[in-house]
Amino acid sequence: MASNLLVLLVLVASSAFLKADGKLSPDYYSCKCPKASSIVEAEVRAAIDHETRIGASLLRLHFHDCFVNGCDASILLDDTGSFVGEKTAGPNNNSARGFDVVDDIKAKLEKTCPGVVSCADILALAARDSTVYLGGPSWKVGLGRRDSLTANRTAANTFLPSPTFNLSALVSSFAVQGLSFKNMVALSGSHTIGRARCISFRARIYTESSIDSSFAKSRQRKCPASGDDNNIAPLDIRTSTHFDIQYYKNLLNKRGLLHSDQELYNGTSADSLVKKYSTDTTVFFRDFARAMVKMGKIKPLTGREGEIRINCRKVNS
Ligand code: HEM
Ligand SMILES: *[C@@H]1O[C@H](CO)[C@@H](O)[C@H](O)[C@H]1NC(C)=O
Ligand SMILES: *[C@@H]1O[C@H](CO)[C@@H](O)[C@H](O)[C@H]1NC(C)=O
Ligand SMILES: *[C@@H]1O[C@H](CO)[C@@H](O)[C@H](O)[C@H]1NC(C)=O
Ligand SMILES: *[C@@H]1O[C@H](CO)[C@@H](O)[C@H](O)[C@H]1NC(C)=O
Repeated sequence: MASNLLVLLVLVASSAFLKADGKLSPDYYSCKCPKASSIVEAEVRAAIDHETRIGASLLRLHFHDCFVNGCDASILLDDTGSFVGEKTAGPNNNSARGFDVVDDIKAKLEKTCPGVVSCADILALAARDSTVYLGGPSWKVGLGRRDSLTANRTAANTFLPSPTFNLSALVSSFAVQGLSFKNMVALSGSHTIGRARCISFRARIYTESSIDSSFAKSRQRKCPASGDDNNIAPLDIRTSTHFDIQYYKNLLNKRGLLHSDQELYNGTSADSLVKKYSTDTTVFFRDFARAMVKMGKIKPLTGREGEIRINCRKVNS
């Protein structure tokens, strides 16, 4: 009897400990809003069926959210009188997209379970669902994030990595977030989908030497030496709508579109991991999924912190 009680006490105490430690849980909404994940998935699929690229844009939104004061949906806030939002920070301005899709998903969720599902969790689920629908790996998304009450454009400019970064700068910008070298190389594999603007890769295609010359020439056709900054090109020259290992194969052929991409295969300690991923889908998918879970855990607001926004673009009044 007494020992049963002891076992019970230990179980209760350890589960409380696990909860405090783990913070996010994949079944966070299973009672509060059992349809939450299926609603997000259906909307993401419909959005991708409408425009394939939006899957890439949604994956990137979660990254750009998490790297700026944690995964708290701060990127979704419009400017207000009291703060300037992150949407016009250098890495986001004329570039971050998918905000309308997030609004649509949120509207559907508000109809089914008003005030329950956070915008930060929508971004995490949409990133996973996009990856899966485009042929990539799946993972369990920890849930229970809450939404920030503010945003910070300076922080977005400070913490989001630039395509001009060299390898050590890339490593540092991930290390600041608690992400490893391997996490960085795996997460960069996101560039197997989606597009970039001319302004993001102009210097590379006109001035660099570790670039395949026919690749450089073909990219120059729609990205002149000056002007047309917003013309876009696929990050993966071969299969930019499929989540696969082609990105790494491109790097081996000096066909990385961004300077930061090619930095991962340029005669350094990163080469061996890129080579590995370029031939092994299973290992890349495993490492990518693990890294996404880790990225999704960056400084979430939980418990009574922040709020559940009703409209992802603005703080509740
Ligand atoms: C390693 C450092 C990284 C740098 C320097 C970087 C930089 C960039 C740049 C410059 C673009 C093109 C933006 C434009 O020209 O409009 C881009 C696109 C993209 N990035 Fe990254 N990125 C990095 C890591 C990541 C990570 C970790 C993810 C996701 C986990 C990611 C996902 C994407 C996706 C999916 C796109 C295409 C978006 C679209 O087509 O709308 N990137 N990135
Ligand atoms: C964002 O882009 C717009 C349109 O190109 C430009 O007018 C504006 O100055 C940019 N904002 C910032 C903060 O750079
Ligand atoms: C915004 O972020 C910058 C860079 O991290 C920081 O120095 C600044 O204090 C932040 N501003 C506010 C109001 O938190
Ligand atoms: C990488 O870039 C940083 C910051 O621009 C610079 O200080 C450093 O010397 C560069 N490292 C290498 C190896 O080029
Ligand atoms: C690759 O290495 C060369 C020689 O060290 C360097 O000039 C270049 O900036 C590096 N990165 C890329 C993407 O070419």
